[in-house]
Amino acid sequence: MEEDLFPAVVTDFKETYILEQSRREVAPGEVCVRVESAAISPNDHLFTLGYYGDKYHHHLPIGVGFEGSGLIVETGEGVDKTLINKKIAFLQQPSMPDYSGTWRRYVYMKSEGIATYPDELDFDSIATISINPPTVCGFMDITLKNKCKAIIHDAASSSLGRMLVRICKSYDIKLINLVRRQEQVDILEEEGAEIILDTSLDTFEEKIRELIAEHKPTTFFDAIGGSFPSKVLSLMPNFSTMYVYGNLSGEAIQYDATNLIFKGHNISNFFVWNWINTLTPDEKTHWFGTIVEDINAGGELFGTKISKKFPLDEFQEAMSHAKEHGSEGKVLLKPQL
Ligand SMILES: NC(=O)c1ccc[n+]([C@@H]2O[C@H](COP(=O)([O-])OP(=O)(O)OC[C@H]3O[C@@H](n4cnc5c(N)ncnc54)[C@H](OP(=O)(O)O)[C@@H]3O)[C@@H](O)[C@H]2O)c1
Repeated sequence: MEEDLFPAVVTDFKETYILEQSRREVAPGEVCVRVESAAISPNDHLFTLGYYGDKYHHHLPIGVGFEGSGLIVETGEGVDKTLINKKIAFLQQPSMPDYSGTWRRYVYMKSEGIATYPDELDFDSIATISINPPTVCGFMDITLKNKCKAIIHDAASSSLGRMLVRICKSYDIKLINLVRRQEQVDILEEEGAEIILDTSLDTFEEKIRELIAEHKPTTFFDAIGGSFPSKVLSLMPNFSTMYVYGNLSGEAIQYDATNLIFKGHNISNFFVWNWINTLTPDEKTHWFGTIVEDINAGGELFGTKISKKFPLDEFQEAMSHAKEHGSEGKVLLKPQL
């Protein structure tokens, strides 16, 4: 074994800190992964504050980080030994029985369902493929099943939003991108987005009314929460649905009951794991096959821009940077530095 103790970021929902962990024997059916890159997302902030899922089910402190990439360095009994030295992308979901987080130097996980990636791909390019790509595939699946030709997306210059721009183009879906400042308009223009609206403009309401009248979007994916998305939904055609998938504002959704009843508006939710569980085996093969094929070919659809990297012991600075510069690209932790 290379080292007996290694650092891991943990939280008790009041404080988030590094706690040394012990290397242990790899259990039968498990692999030990040396984590090379671990992504930071807005959900990690929510998690460390205790606002992600049901915090009372956890034994505290609990590890932080939902996705990453690394190298398999050990295999347990019953596991194919040729997996050693293979690159993998992986996710950790707090509801998993063996959850430990990804902001740590080593992760132990079940070998079942592990997808390996070619040696030529670097760890950073596969560290962000486990959550946002399936999420935008979920948005596309809903859009296609709802038979929508146009959709609205807010907080649209996020890493996820950029992917959505590309996948909507490939499915010929009109995407109305809502952002909150001019720099984000520029970012999405560079990404090739056709319709971008700055919500801070005085003319915002007039412009969104015009766009809704022209494109008739009946599906809206909201990452913000609070009163803003309700305003947008209230202007959408009858029987439109807003799927709440993030809570960047930290505020509760409010909506006019009259619109719910008489316009037939719906407020629904989107959580990527729940969506995956609704898929048939063929649908799973289709969506995950699309992601893996694209990433192996260089990530034209699902690639993510990386803006900055930090060593693990600078995770606090890394989290602040990610919060303040979210539109510039993803921030990664590099646990081996
Ligand atoms: N439900 C699910 O299954 C699921 C799965 C994946 C991701 N998500 C959610 O998807 C969202 C995007 O994730 P990501 O990893 O792509 O994020 P990201 O790359 O870190 O980008 C975050 C973006 O949100 C913007 N933003 C932050 N607070 C905002 C606010 N109050 N109003 C408007 N815009 C705001 C930021 O803009 P500024 O630069 O102006 O701050 C930035 O452009 C997050 O909310 C995440 O939780 C949900």
